Amino acid sequence: MNILVTGAAGFIGSHVAEALLARGDDVVGLDNFNDYYDPARKRANVALLTPNPRFILHEADVRDAEAMERICTAGRFDVVIHLAAMAGVRYSIERAPLYTDVNVRGTVNLLEAARKTGIPHFVFASTSSVYGRTEQLPFREDDLLGRPLAPYPATKIAGEVMGHAYHNLFGLSFTGLRFFSVYGPRGRPDMMPYIITDCIVHGREFVLYEAGEMYRDWTYIADIVSGIVAAVDRPLGYEVINLGRGEPVRMADFVELVEELVGEKARMTTPPAPPSEPPITYADVTKARDLLDYNPTISVADGMHRFWEWYQAVILKAQ
Ligand SMILES: NC(=O)c1ccc[n+]([C@@H]2O[C@H](COP(=O)([O-])OP(=O)(O)OC[C@H]3O[C@@H](n4cnc5c(N)ncnc54)[C@H](O)[C@@H]3O)[C@@H](O)[C@H]2O)c1
Repeated sequence: MNILVTGAAGFIGSHVAEALLARGDDVVGLDNFNDYYDPARKRANVALLTPNPRFILHEADVRDAEAMERICTAGRFDVVIHLAAMAGVRYSIERAPLYTDVNVRGTVNLLEAARKTGIPHFVFASTSSVYGRTEQLPFREDDLLGRPLAPYPATKIAGEVMGHAYHNLFGLSFTGLRFFSVYGPRGRPDMMPYIITDCIVHGREFVLYEAGEMYRDWTYIADIVSGIVAAVDRPLGYEVINLGRGEPVRMADFVELVEELVGEKARMTTPPAPPSEPPITYADVTKARDLLDYNPTISVADGMHRFWEWYQAVILKAQ
């Protein structure tokens, strides 16, 4: 298949592109290498892909509608995997206009380019944070939306529902995948697995909300990639599907796990959580199992062990 991966230089995008290339697909990656976190990390991610002759990179911005149409016209893609986004919840609190521009307008630019150039299938990165502070546990796709806790999930809900409009009007197949707290090698430096590890290693203090009495459904990158690839292979009309592990981890226990891996004690401050943070994320993955044969296999202990191996080999070695 011929596949466009937006956000290909990012954490999830680089793993997805790698998996698609490994199975023989042609991949066009697109990224604007913004500085939300160190662009050198993104360059390093892409450097793992560029030696493959079936990989092409476009340095472009999803806010540029003309560029999106040009790339899609030239690419004649079978599917778009749209991962490019401003992805941090907390960073979005005071940046609603930027998040709207990139995540809503950028997504619409790609939907338009897909429609105009006849791309039949669109896979969209959504998030567990669309569920906000729902009391329905585990989180199910048929839960009522519309109560996001911050601009970031609001923009992802907008992407999901705009996808429905394009499905309804133009017959585009659209699968919105709601990822739950993804971690693993090349993981984002603004996310807790990286922050906790890095701070413990360097003896720095970090913030753990509610003294760790919060739960997150940590999901290993390889499990997420298998779900994305399955969604690529199965156009389903219009669906939104949870991709999580279905086993929320108490954050205090997560910190203990990292302490054991690193062999040092953590230093933390433990303020109350801001209103953007739900107390728990918890995926019901029944729909993913039914529609995508999704089967997350990596435990958090195993996945964090792999993350720690990568952190030592790549991050510590470079310091
Ligand atoms: N990592 C998670 O736990 C998680 C959870 C839920 C949803 N998601 C979603 O998955 C997707 C990938 O997330 P990630 O964790 O790999 O984040 P990431 O920040 O590592 O990757 C996103 C990539 O998109 C690129 N990008 C941002 N704005 C762009 C623009 N205007 N034009 C072109 N490229 C742009 C960035 O440079 C980056 O390389 C995002 O849509 C994110 O919202 C991630």
